[in-house]
Amino acid sequence: MDTTVRLTVDGTEHDVLVDTRTTLLDALRERVGATAPKKGCDHGQCGSCTVLLDGRRHLTCLALAVAHDGAEVVTADGLADGDDLHPVQQAFLDHEGYQCGYCTPGQVCSVVGMLREAEDGDASHVTEDLETEPDLSDEEIRERMSGNLCRCGAYAGILAATRQAAGQQGSEQGATA
Ligand code: FES
Ligand code: FES
Repeated sequence: MDTTVRLTVDGTEHDVLVDTRTTLLDALRERVGATAPKKGCDHGQCGSCTVLLDGRRHLTCLALAVAHDGAEVVTADGLADGDDLHPVQQAFLDHEGYQCGYCTPGQVCSVVGMLREAEDGDASHVTEDLETEPDLSDEEIRERMSGNLCRCGAYAGILAATRQAAGQQGSEQGATA
């Protein structure tokens, strides 16, 4: 069965006709033409399809488009303000947080979402003190970004970029995640 869903993607509204079984990832890529979210595993295991969905990071390969009628989607393409890169995008450039770049749009969206979660005080599996705002140590960053895999192994740059974006440049510049 086909149905129409309305999606606002990177600030532009789209009414897209989809089969009710269509994932949000396929709707974005094949109906809207938004190619920043990448299909890596298509099983919720790699994070390359991550976007910001109504402000929260989300795996679009596990979401049905019909379940998100009216949603606001921000992909890595929509993070920049004109020619001005988003601080997380700039940090990835500054620290070479990519090699082939396939996972990068998902990594960037995930960092943006993760920083918001930390600001909101959300705990992670490695957070010890649940009473205070989490300090984004390297261990916290690695844990919170563990859903985003990089086949190229650009983790050292991703960690450094995330640290910069979090305003916490530490001493483990050469560390691997
Ligand atoms: S494509 Fe969605 S998690 Fe891998
Ligand atoms: S930069 Fe190639 S998969 Fe991450």
